[in-house]
Amino acid sequence: MTVHFIGAGPGAPDLLTLRGRDLIAACPVCLYAGSLVPEAVLAHCPPGARIVNTAPLDLDAIMAEIARAHQAGEDVARLHSGDLSVWSAMGEQVRRLEALGIPFTVTPGVPSFAAAAAALGAELTLPGLAQSVVLTRTPGRASAMPESETLAAFGATGATLAIHLSIQTIARVVADLSPHYGPDCPVAVVYRASWPDQRIIRATLATIEAALSDDISRTALILVGPALAAQGFTESRLYAADYDRRYRPQSAESPWAGWTPDDE
Ligand SMILES: C[S@@+](CC[C@H](N)C(=O)[O-])C[C@H]1O[C@@H](n2cnc3c(N)ncnc32)[C@H](O)[C@@H]1O
Repeated sequence: MTVHFIGAGPGAPDLLTLRGRDLIAACPVCLYAGSLVPEAVLAHCPPGARIVNTAPLDLDAIMAEIARAHQAGEDVARLHSGDLSVWSAMGEQVRRLEALGIPFTVTPGVPSFAAAAAALGAELTLPGLAQSVVLTRTPGRASAMPESETLAAFGATGATLAIHLSIQTIARVVADLSPHYGPDCPVAVVYRASWPDQRIIRATLATIEAALSDDISRTALILVGPALAAQGFTESRLYAADYDRRYRPQSAESPWAGWTPDDE
């Protein structure tokens, strides 16, 4: 018996990996994390599967479900939204599984920041403007932040910020970031990226609060940084016509001359 943690993606049911789909189809038990995992993903469960929404359960109750499946020798598909590497609560479940000696696997999913960037048609790392993306959040009722992980500290780098779980504190986001990025810095809020009711609000740090309507109160990502509305960035060297590289040697003297992929 194995627990398969599966990233269910940002919402669109076809943004699930093939591996994730096949594992769901093979598991007689499916535990899924509430409202962010679409029904259409659950449709991959085999007929008669035990399907449990874990949103109203505490960790002990979730582990009791897993223990029951373990005793019955039934594999479990454990679905969380987006990818499992960020804000999935997988870590605490894995710790308990390890203590119990229950095997598990992890199948990645499309994270919401990637779905939001796709909705914007944006590359978050543009040459000369931003070469880092910070996945972060502001403190919530259930989660304090480590002291050094402040928006101001991340803002001081000028990187593109992908701020999760924070749409309800947009005023604080604006106040913390304006001194670093300036009031004209582009901001995009993507609400329910990849869902049928997806919405995109583009503004600046100075105008974003006024641009947001009251109904955008959760499941939204705030992206901040100069890369978001940039036109005047330099092109990458990688595809420059004169760039000497393994796949495109520029002369017979190039260290890559004569190299073929079979040489690897
Ligand atoms: C508990 S975290 C889950 C993050 C998830 N594990 C991931 O990989 O993106 C929930 C937060 O992720 C963001 N989020 C999740 N799905 C989203 C979506 N479809 N569109 C925009 N933001 C989303 C929101 O900021 C939301 O408050």
